[in-house]
Amino acid sequence: MRCLAVSGTVAGCALALGGCGSQSALEPRSDAARTIETLWWWMFAVACVVIGGAVLLLLIAWLRRTRPGFPLLGEREDVATGVVVLFGIGIPGVALIALFALANLAAIDETEAPDPATTPMTIEVTGNQFWWEVRYPGTTAITANEIHIPTGTRVNVVARTNDVIHSFWVPQLNRKIDMIPGQANRVLLFADEPGRYRGQCAELCGLAHSQMAMYVYADPPGEFRAWLDRMAAPRQEPSSEPARRGQRVFLREACADCHTIRGTPARGEVGPDLTHLASRSTLAALTIPNDREHLGSWIRDPQEAKPGNRMPALELSDRELADLLAYLRSLD
Ligand code: CUA
Repeated sequence: MRCLAVSGTVAGCALALGGCGSQSALEPRSDAARTIETLWWWMFAVACVVIGGAVLLLLIAWLRRTRPGFPLLGEREDVATGVVVLFGIGIPGVALIALFALANLAAIDETEAPDPATTPMTIEVTGNQFWWEVRYPGTTAITANEIHIPTGTRVNVVARTNDVIHSFWVPQLNRKIDMIPGQANRVLLFADEPGRYRGQCAELCGLAHSQMAMYVYADPPGEFRAWLDRMAAPRQEPSSEPARRGQRVFLREACADCHTIRGTPARGEVGPDLTHLASRSTLAALTIPNDREHLGSWIRDPQEAKPGNRMPALELSDRELADLLAYLRSLD
């Protein structure tokens, strides 16, 4: 991961992560994100000038450490006070106010969530320790951690939380928005082009906070429609004998207390909806790939890959696990 650490007297200390794969605010894929990128570069430039000036003054002071007074200005006390006020208060104050005004004029309005009546589509995303539930109002589709949106469409995201404060952030598409208990916040998602954009919870929310990531897939509108229709459907009846046995294991064990599989009696709401689990590319909010091997080790010991998550380990025989995997892998 290539990261840029930028510190300046302007912002005190600003830490910016750049170029981190497809989660970089410096690789914008929407107008809102481009505005934020421009603002970032302006802030970076001003911070560079200010810190450069501070370092230069320190260097001059060190080179002249044996000589009293300022160069050119001499030893007068009122001049010394003036210099401290100018460089310690005046310049940082002007820089901060200018950047604040720039942020407001250039970025706040541009990235603000629009009136919901003006967007053709709404998605509800709810933060949970430590995963994202995704609903598409007007349909029965419920999924988790992998959000699909149509390209070229203004999507109104309504962000809520079921527990503590989380923060929804897809840096290539827009600003972050906090998920606050008892409140619905909104942010606009818009993607120019088809692609996969990585997002991350941006508010410390507990032990597995860093493993609370998400993908936003921007699909061409036709593909998106087909995907949404698939997600809205209940699960396919298991077609093989191991998968049928696996469904019985799922319903008998604790799985069904926490997870929903639409079309079965499993109605748990603690963990992600698994109706179309096999259609997702990752498990545990992007922590591990969604393949048979990783799914098996996840069920055996969920705390190994993602310490602090809420899923308990089950005591299953090898046969039961194999059947359960056959079932879960059939849920596409
Ligand atoms: Cu959720 Cu950090």
